[in-house]
Amino acid sequence: MEETNETLCIGIDLGTSRSSISASDGERHVVDSYVGWPLDDMVARKLMKKAVFVGREALDNRSMLDLRRPLERGVIKEGSAKDEEAVQELLRHLISLIGIKQKSKNRGKVRAVVGVPAEAFRVSRQRLRSAMDGIADSVMLVSEPFAVAYGVEALLHAMIIDIGAGTADFCVMQGRYPTDADQRTLPNAGDSIDERLLKLMQEHHPEAQVSIYMIRDWKEKWSFVGEPKSRVTVTVPAKGKATEFDITNQMSAACESILPPISETMIDLLCRVEPEYQEQVRQNIILAGGSSLISGLPEALEKACSELGGGRVTVVKDPIFAGSDGGLAIACDATNADWQRLSL
Ligand SMILES: Nc1ncnc2c1ncn2[C@@H]1O[C@H](COP(=O)(O)OP(=O)(O)OP(=O)(O)O)[C@@H](O)[C@H]1O
Ligand SMILES: [Mg+2]
Repeated sequence: MEETNETLCIGIDLGTSRSSISASDGERHVVDSYVGWPLDDMVARKLMKKAVFVGREALDNRSMLDLRRPLERGVIKEGSAKDEEAVQELLRHLISLIGIKQKSKNRGKVRAVVGVPAEAFRVSRQRLRSAMDGIADSVMLVSEPFAVAYGVEALLHAMIIDIGAGTADFCVMQGRYPTDADQRTLPNAGDSIDERLLKLMQEHHPEAQVSIYMIRDWKEKWSFVGEPKSRVTVTVPAKGKATEFDITNQMSAACESILPPISETMIDLLCRVEPEYQEQVRQNIILAGGSSLISGLPEALEKACSELGGGRVTVVKDPIFAGSDGGLAIACDATNADWQRLSL
């Protein structure tokens, strides 16, 4: 983007746990949605030599930092100036990864599509606009599942279920931009599984010393619904001594906890589709988001569809970049008139 007038299009997926960016010049990056500032300036100057940490680096240095995960349910946390600043740092970091300079006369135009959860749509506009100030020339906000649908070209007779960390976002695609009636957001997603698993560990293995970060790592390695393929065992300190625990039942219960609300919402939305198209939508249910990687999830949701006459549930090829790639596709396809009409 040096001294050029070319337009660069970007798609950004601002997520509770991970945020990704895809650019029209082929660059793609993903970062953990963490931002941290040193707790102790003097120690920090000596040890870290940095004023702010973003992503994995922030997470790895968390003992020294005021660590923020600023996007709760995909919305910038209300009333917290520090969290707003954290979102801005996160956006700046993503943008710096693809090498865009701050807005200037010599820079080409940057057009950005930012995907946020369906229900964050109204509330976080203003905050996002100010966070993107000085970064992009035009910003369009779209609902995250719509971005995914656009990216995988499932715009007609399809249902997208994007199960992330903070939320599960549902969207029925009927060949037009989805309305409120076509979309739902549930708080049952990766974070709620982590919290449940932590609680079950505390109940069943109170002597095990665990943190929420360890819990999340285990879940990402061994999560499943349905029958276990093998036992899940972990080794953690108990009164300081490395001890092995079998957590198969707790892992199963924690992961299964999101199934009833997700199945129920999926079925409810399917029942609202015009009757002649219901079968087509049932055969075209697409999972996205990190939690769609839970082993056995597509099969469990297909089973839930069986009471309606059966369905087919698939997982997108690239759950990490499905949202930002979709945002990028929208940014590239949008006409000047679209940008004028839909920009923030
Ligand atoms: N292999 C895996 N198995 C199960 N869960 C996983 C796996 N990999 C990632 N996850 C979970 O997926 C979630 C992150 O997914 P994703 O990146 O789609 O969320 P997000 O976009 O940051 O969140 P949201 O969309 O809710 O704002 C986390 O809860 C993470 O633990
Ligand atoms: Mg997401």
